[in-house]
Order: sequence, then C-alpha cells, then structure tokens
Amino acid sequence: MDRSIAIRADGVSKRFAVHTRKATSLKERLVARRHADERPFYALTDVTLAIEAGHTVGLIGANGSGKSTLLKVLAGILRPTTGTVDARGRIASLLELGAGFNGELSGRENVYLNASLLGLTRRETDRLFDSIVDFAELGESIDNPVKHYSSGMYVRLGFAVAVHVDPDILLVDEVLAVGDEAFARKCLGQISQFQTEGRTILFVSHALDLVETICDRGVVLDHGSVIYDGDPAYATGTLRGLLGTDRNPADDAGTPGLTIGGITVAGEAGEPARDEFVGGDPMAVRIVLDVREDVVGSCHELAAVVMGAGGLPVWVMRVTPDGGLPRLPGRWTVDFVTECPPVHGGFRIAVRVADAAGTTIGAAQGGQTFWVRTGKQGGLVDVPFQVKAEGVEW
Ligand SMILES: Nc1ncnc2c1ncn2[C@@H]1O[C@H](COP(=O)(O)OP(=O)(O)O)[C@@H](O)[C@H]1O
Ligand SMILES: [Mg+2]
Repeated sequence: MDRSIAIRADGVSKRFAVHTRKATSLKERLVARRHADERPFYALTDVTLAIEAGHTVGLIGANGSGKSTLLKVLAGILRPTTGTVDARGRIASLLELGAGFNGELSGRENVYLNASLLGLTRRETDRLFDSIVDFAELGESIDNPVKHYSSGMYVRLGFAVAVHVDPDILLVDEVLAVGDEAFARKCLGQISQFQTEGRTILFVSHALDLVETICDRGVVLDHGSVIYDGDPAYATGTLRGLLGTDRNPADDAGTPGLTIGGITVAGEAGEPARDEFVGGDPMAVRIVLDVREDVVGSCHELAAVVMGAGGLPVWVMRVTPDGGLPRLPGRWTVDFVTECPPVHGGFRIAVRVADAAGTTIGAAQGGQTFWVRTGKQGGLVDVPFQVKAEGVEW
C-alpha cells in the first residue's frame, strides 16, 4: 500500500443474509427468512476508498445508505463479503451505540477491555484511566454496569477511550449527536487537536455544515455505493440534492395542468444524459413538459436553475414566449444549449415555470447530478446560452 495512505477499502461489498427490519410476528419472521434466502441484501457494493494519512474525511448519506456498515468494515468489526481493507496504524473507533461495550461489565472493566483490544497494556491503561473518566465526565458511575448508562454516558465513555489510546486513525459514527452540546464541543476540540497532530479521521455526521467546515474531503454513499468523493461542500450539495429528490415534485407544482416530465443534461441536445463535464464542454439541458390548454396562456417563463453545494443557484437559464417558448398545449421540449462553465463541483437542476406575475405554476428538480471536474470552486458565474424550444400539439 502507498505509504501516504492510512486506510483503504478496495472493491468492498457487504452482504447481509437478512435485512434488518425487525420482524415482529412469527409469520413475518418466516416470510423474512424466506426472502433472505431468495434475495441477499447488499449494504455495500464495490466501495473503493483510500484515505491519505492526516486527512479528515466526512462520510455522509441518507439513513440506510451503508455508512455505519462501512465504518465497521474499515474498523475490522465486520468482514467484507468481497474486497479488502488495509490500514496502517492503530484504529480507534466510536461506532453505533451498542458496538464496542459489554453491557454486563462496569464502565471501568469496559475501559480495560477496550484498551486491551486496541493493544494497550494494563499498565498503560492504568496511567490513562483517570483522564478517561475525567474526559467522559462519569465520576462514580464508572463502576456501574454499562447497561444502566444513558446513551449520552455511553457515548462519552466511548469517545473518551477512543481518543486516549493514541490512535493513528479515528473512526467516528454519528453518535456524537447523542451527547449534549457541551460534550459535542469538547469532542470537536479533540478532533481539531487530532487534525493538527496529523492523525487520520473518518467521521459520519448528519451535521452537513460541520462536514463542510472541518473536513477536507467528503464522501457520499447512496444505497451502498460511493456516488461522490471530493470537495466537502460539493459532497454536501450532492447529498442535499439527493434528499431533495425524495420530495414529490407534485408538492411544488402549482397546477395539475402542467407536468415536468424530464430534465436531462447531455453534451448535445437529444443525446443521452451525461454526468461528467469539464469547463468548456458543450452542454445541453433538455426539459420536457406537458402543458394543458387551460394553463398554456399563463406560461410566461421557463427557468432552469443550476444548483451547486447547499442547493445554491449557480447559474440560471430562462426563456419566455418571446424567446421561443411554445404557445400551444401539448408536449414541449426545451433545450438550453450552452458551454459548461469552469465551476468545479456537483450540480443539479431545478426547473420552474412561472406566470407573468412571477407566480410558480410548475416546478421540479432533476434527479440527475452532474459533475464539473475543472475550474474555480464556488461563486456565481455568467453563462451565455442559446435556447431552442418547440411544441408538438395534441
Ligand atoms: N447486521 C445487519 N443485518 C442485516 N442488515 C443490516 C445489518 N446492518 C445494517 N443492515 C442494513 O444495511 C443497510 C445499511 O445500514 P447502515 O450501514 O446502518 O446505514 P447507515 O449507517 O448509513 O444508516 C440498511 O438497510 C440496514 O438495514
Ligand atoms: Mg448509521
């Protein structure tokens, strides 16, 4: 393995025999078992990820996208079904609640058990013990069985152990959100100290603004696959876009008389969708919409808004009837033909149709994310474009 890489996953897939939705009745259990035999479930599919030593990487994705599973595979707690994992140095991890501690044992016993699993001697742990209890703010409770701990206490102890064992690599699942704010601040302070000490950190968080501020790289998982790996701000933009697609476009649509049927980004109008561009490439955004007679008169403007990180508009292309927007009811195909601007990042497209007063009468977001691999990061750009629109009357 390349010396600069601290931890890597190569073509990692993880199959679970049973999908974890808890079966409650006997019948459900039997059905679940039968399904399990028929259809293995992949929580991770062909994940390749190499993290350079000293980097802080944010791992984000919707619930169930495989984040915790990936951390467990990297931590060596789960064995990948296919693929390999390599790590250089000591890995400390703070995984999901329930992983790592034995509930029957006291906090004290768990500290020794965990530390020994991480390769510390009893003597080394003795030396760290008070500081661990102190950091975890557990006081006397350290001698109570862990099963009686609140989730906050549990996380505090887990984090205290993880940061005291002098790890080269720290893996943190989103459990940090469980503790109170003061403790979360303390953890972040510790993480930033680790950053200055050049340790490698991979952490899962729902706090996307945190990922944008403290990570130097963001990885987005979707249904067990890496769909974006790069600039953290664009990673969070990609995820926000992805989560946005869960919304029903009909919620936005102001009228049933207008349906936005498709938004496609391609190299040339009418070509199949493409998701990678470099600045200067020809680009065509095709919008197909069905417009009924009762609304055709009020369609005054069609706008395609290209959104980057955080759902922020980066550039907008508009057309009005004067510019060629068809005036007949039917299926409209509108192509915005332009040149991909030099703006590095991941983007999605939102489409809005408004009437002359500016009121939205139809809106939708494109499910497709496309990436521009070159150019400056962020900022607004002025993008010249041409538009060609036509309608086929019903
Ligand atoms: N031990 C398990 N057995 C079966 N399915 C599991 C198990 N652990 C996780 N899964 C399933 O794998 C998928 C990914 O889970 P997880 O890695 O916990 O996602 P995330 O942390 O991103 O929410 C989910 O559909 C989850 O139900
Ligand atoms: Mg999880």
